[in-house]
Amino acid sequence: MTRAIKIVALPGDGIGPEVVPIAIAVLRTALAQAGVALEVQEALVGGCAIDQCGEPLPKETLAACRAADAVLLGAVGGPQWEDRSMDQRPERGLLGLRSNLELFANLRPALLFPPLAEASSLKPELVSGLDILIVRELTGGIYFGEPRGVFFENNERVGVNTYRYAEHEIERIARLAFNLAGKRQGRLCSVDKANVLEVTDLWREVVSGLAGEFPQVALSHMYVDNAGMQLVRAPKQFDVIVTGNLFGDILSDVAAMLTGSLGMLPSASLAADGLGLYEPVHGSAPDIAGQDAANPLATVLSTAMMCRYSLNLPAVAARIEGAVDAVLQRGLRTADIVGSGHPHGIERVGTKAMGEALLAEIGSGTEGAAS
Ligand code: IPM
Ligand code: MG
Repeated sequence: MTRAIKIVALPGDGIGPEVVPIAIAVLRTALAQAGVALEVQEALVGGCAIDQCGEPLPKETLAACRAADAVLLGAVGGPQWEDRSMDQRPERGLLGLRSNLELFANLRPALLFPPLAEASSLKPELVSGLDILIVRELTGGIYFGEPRGVFFENNERVGVNTYRYAEHEIERIARLAFNLAGKRQGRLCSVDKANVLEVTDLWREVVSGLAGEFPQVALSHMYVDNAGMQLVRAPKQFDVIVTGNLFGDILSDVAAMLTGSLGMLPSASLAADGLGLYEPVHGSAPDIAGQDAANPLATVLSTAMMCRYSLNLPAVAARIEGAVDAVLQRGLRTADIVGSGHPHGIERVGTKAMGEALLAEIGSGTEGAAS
């Protein structure tokens, strides 16, 4: 081995501890084939951290992440922690990671694997060849704006959150989105609600102001309500979408579903200093946790994004993505992507069997065959 990569694994809650080990095994095998060793340090975040350390984001976890080449996260949250105060919920752990590590850019690709066209809730012709990238601002907007809270006013409670963006926050996410669009089909759609919200009127102005620097990118703007509609009407009109934290949260779930299942979608959260946190877009899915029913592919695909964006190993990324494609071609499906009926050649498998099939695929592939 010529090189060693050090990552922190944060399996978290629910199905996280089922899918993360599979993704690590796949990553380890793919890296080994490229002569790269993998060191993994496990740490706690979310509900399991609350149970074991009394807080959703222990200091040790944050320090370990800071010292790593990249972070792989499963999921956080579950019904057993839902009645806790807002700052003592598992989700705080994830939001704390994002803000403390300054992971301002969240990349959520919605890519349709051809064998899954039938699993989409849209007609196959609307989604075949779908390849959208949602670039979501992740450390600002209404998720983090102050003041926030529930206050007493005139003898009743009033809930307050603040939707806020400073120019530099808009500019850095827009710049990144322009750059990514330039490497893809060259189309960037900025999503806002500039007809109603001043903060997104500023968003639109700042994004527009950068367009001159990226003559190879065609910039358009869309209101978020229309964007939601267009995503389910004619999703292939989009290449890259850039938007704020809350709109990005909502639109990325919509986009994910176009591809057949939330269980397929990976994501990368990137900081300006190069650190990246990789996680599936799906949550902790407590309803299926512990049943060997979860789809590990979103987490596996997140490790491919890690290879591409943090480790500069695009060939390893392609190999992992190729293995995912191959097991789908072979007809293997977890429950979420099995579709209706019992088409010939489709085999329903559990989480572990899917992982084993991926490992066999990676192990058997010839160098450079995956693309
Ligand atoms: C996501 C999730 C998170 C978010 C939750 C778990 C805090 O929905 O990553 O999309 O709202 O950002
Ligand atoms: Mg979400």
